[in-house]
Amino acid sequence: MADLAATAAAMVRPGKGILAADESVSTMSARLERAGVAPTEENRRAYREMLVTTPGLAGGVSGVILCDETFRQRVTGAATFPQALAARGILPGIKVDTGARPLAGRPGETVTEGLDGLRERLAEYARLGAAFAKWRAVLRIGAGRPSPQALRANAHALARYAGACHEAGLVPIVEPEVLMDGSHSLRECAEATERALRAVFAELAEFEIGLDAVVLKPNMVVPGGDSGQVAAPDEVAGATLATLRAAVPEAVAGIAFLSGGQGAAQATANLAAICARPAPWPLTFSFGRALVDPALAAWRGEAARLADGQRALAHRVARNAAALAA
Ligand code: 13P
Repeated sequence: MADLAATAAAMVRPGKGILAADESVSTMSARLERAGVAPTEENRRAYREMLVTTPGLAGGVSGVILCDETFRQRVTGAATFPQALAARGILPGIKVDTGARPLAGRPGETVTEGLDGLRERLAEYARLGAAFAKWRAVLRIGAGRPSPQALRANAHALARYAGACHEAGLVPIVEPEVLMDGSHSLRECAEATERALRAVFAELAEFEIGLDAVVLKPNMVVPGGDSGQVAAPDEVAGATLATLRAAVPEAVAGIAFLSGGQGAAQATANLAAICARPAPWPLTFSFGRALVDPALAAWRGEAARLADGQRALAHRVARNAAALAA
């Protein structure tokens, strides 16, 4: 566990965050199509190669989360993606859940699956060079939601996943995402997020998971995307840290926020406001869309625009790394 705690500490070390480039084949294909790029296996590979070979990426990124397809692909020049990341001093991560599926008896709610065969898959990813893993639970705010059943089922799966990761020698990123979708207020997001985090840490305690080898990946506390409300960064920061302090043990190795569909600049401004306040844990980012959307738009699948895509990613990484030091 000492090695795992060291890896977790390295993931959240000062001035660095985690790049989430682990979109599933279907999600990535849809994003490529929206950007006018044919959704082929080769284009998904080329896009991820553009991201991970960005000059200077390791200056602001401690780790990159990949999906199974990318983990087995090669960058130009023959190294696998995990090997190419390790050669750059970046920790390779792997998304290991198999997605959110309808939760029986709870219309509109999901439980994230992927526990079957997980032990064997984790052992293989560790052999292929993974240092850490990710599992994302998805929770929706609405009438009666998230329900106690959805909270418990997802927290239970996260705890079993975390234990399996430790057994395999991987640091688990534990991600209970309360979605921004909906017309809820910032206050309702705070309440749902606190309930979700309490449920997760109750199950992690039940399973005796060593928290010094766990990185938590929560949502920021923000009003719903359809609420018509926009909260100032300082308000987001106050609500987010109050919620985390109420529910997250100090022993957790670190907290890496997801961007959750916030615009890139908004996510950075909120991150900076959060990091400007004192907290008992290392705080950083583990953004997907808020880092890569500008890069995808600049690249558009054209080899001649590779450097434009990389500059766009490097710019977002630099802005977010600067936000950590605010
Ligand atoms: P976003 O930052 O786009 O929300 O993605 C982070 C992530 O890894 C979601 O699982």
